[in-house]
Amino acid sequence: ATDALIDSFGRIGTDLRVSLTDKCNLRCTYCMPEAGLDWLPNDQVLTDDEIIRLVTLSVERLGITEVRFTGGEPLLRKGLEKIIGATARLRTQAGAAIETSLTTNAMGLRHRAQRLVDAGLTRINVSLDTLDAERFNAITHRDRHHEVIAGLEAARAAGLDPIKINAVLLPGVNDGEAATLLEWALEHDYQLRFIEQMPIDAQGAWDRDSMITAAQILESLNRDFELAATDPTARGAAPAETWLARSRVTDASGIVGVIGSVTRNFCASCDRTRLTADGQIRNCLFSTSETDLRSLLRDGSSDEQIMHAWQGSMWRKKAGHGIDVNGTGDGFANPSRSMSAIGG
Ligand code: GTP
Ligand code: 5AD
Ligand code: SF4
Repeated sequence: ATDALIDSFGRIGTDLRVSLTDKCNLRCTYCMPEAGLDWLPNDQVLTDDEIIRLVTLSVERLGITEVRFTGGEPLLRKGLEKIIGATARLRTQAGAAIETSLTTNAMGLRHRAQRLVDAGLTRINVSLDTLDAERFNAITHRDRHHEVIAGLEAARAAGLDPIKINAVLLPGVNDGEAATLLEWALEHDYQLRFIEQMPIDAQGAWDRDSMITAAQILESLNRDFELAATDPTARGAAPAETWLARSRVTDASGIVGVIGSVTRNFCASCDRTRLTADGQIRNCLFSTSETDLRSLLRDGSSDEQIMHAWQGSMWRKKAGHGIDVNGTGDGFANPSRSMSAIGG
């Protein structure tokens, strides 16, 4: 279709990630400082209706088929159910239902999972880096480990499937816990993915020399699990490479993923476009410039003018993020916004 979000390398954007707020109620060390950040002023944050207008345009006219809501923490957004409801009612250009998903830290999910599903949510990814409550406090600076577990149980009870879990492995903090986390996830039928830490924290503390790589993650899992590669042609544009893991210790088995954003980047098959909470399009998690749709929304621009700006942004998308050129992080500059303000 002429209205697709296509880039100069021929990649087509079909997956929209919408950050609903830059605020968060946790303080993960790999994301933001304990004191928090300077949050966006309220008047710069898109309203529910502005978000719904852009999501509708992207699905009905620009070829988007999946919409993921992120943050900051998306559960902090009061209008979340309304936005999900409006999104779930859309149909793709081919007339199919669209996938609506959420990436969340699960704070408060226990009371909202059913309402989100009723609104039309189809999938959920929950961040959880440890099973140890003390270590959870050390990583997130909040004593709320039990809330993640309760949130996961509520997601299960509400019928969400699969439930994916994102675990960032940090050197000297939770990197020794990989096998324990996987045993637990297999036992509870959660689809665990281990994530390489990326240089996208607000403090600029990322260190290539000490980051836990995909190769190290696999090596450490190998001790306790037999890993069989899954069909690589089924991966599509997914960030996670997956294996069928079979425990050598118990009889648990199931899928485990590794998201090697740094050392095994998947930029060549990227199908993502991002909308920040303040209405900027980012053509990449690591893009150095943004395209302002908020001004267009507020100055009476037409749908066509907004689409044109969005397409222009995607056309300028670079081939890749260039973090790990020569196996080092040398020469790479952190994006001007941190993960929490972009929406992972
Ligand atoms: P699924 O479709 O459920 O597999 O979702 P996902 O893995 O795309 O999304 P999620 O929000 O759970 O993100 C998991 C990890 O992948 C996070 O650390 C993201 O920052 C990372 N990630 C997602 N999209 C990109 C991307 O375009 N580039 C890079 N480098 N990392 C990404
Ligand atoms: N590197 C890798 N993943 C990160 N996330 C947040 N910050 C980073 C980082 N610096 C993860 C969160 C969440 C997802 C949206 O991104 O754990 O699961
Ligand atoms: Fe919040 Fe997510 Fe950042 Fe943790 S990684 S502080 S949960 S936005």
